[in-house]
Amino acid sequence: MGVRAVFLVGFMASGKSSVGQELARRLGWDFVDMDARIESRERQSIPEIFRQRGEPGFRLAETSALRDLLTEPLKRDSVVALGGGAFVQERNRELLRQWPAVFLEAPLSELWQRSLTDGVERPLREDPEQFAQLYAERLPCYRQASLVVETAGKQLTSICEEIEGALQLRSTPEDAGVGLSRIDHTSFGRGESQ
Ligand code: S3P
Repeated sequence: MGVRAVFLVGFMASGKSSVGQELARRLGWDFVDMDARIESRERQSIPEIFRQRGEPGFRLAETSALRDLLTEPLKRDSVVALGGGAFVQERNRELLRQWPAVFLEAPLSELWQRSLTDGVERPLREDPEQFAQLYAERLPCYRQASLVVETAGKQLTSICEEIEGALQLRSTPEDAGVGLSRIDHTSFGRGESQ
């Protein structure tokens, strides 16, 4: 049986890290935070990378971290939280094409409020209008994920249960008849309009 992985995607402050940590804890899988991985590879914080290299420089570092994660094979089953812009880049979606990606969808007003209070410095968050505009631009990309989970008003537990159920994470791939390994997750419907 191959190593399994689930990638969490979505806008800034959509709960990718909290859901990812909780999902990994429940399943006994590793949790990988891609932004933290980028910071340790680059030995710079995300805001510093943006200041010194701009968004294009950050995107290069992001793709390179993702490519390495996928090419030096994952050693254990993992839940991976991607940064908010990662799944928007076509080259990253292509790298992830054979893996299940879960879009955590939440109302824009909730995302904005949470982004103000969660203590994370986000170079791409300016004001409510710019935030809304960026969200609207990105939504069609997020919707290309294998699974869309609406998180509004739900506890972490029920969000995790929903993901576990939809992706059959508690069954072995043999039991489930569909794998979560990168070979055959396509039965989850990536690419279909949601
Ligand atoms: C970004 C989101 C951030 C981080 C970087 C760029 C984006 O991650 O990757 O600041 O483009 O939306 P979070 O989604 O965890 O805030």
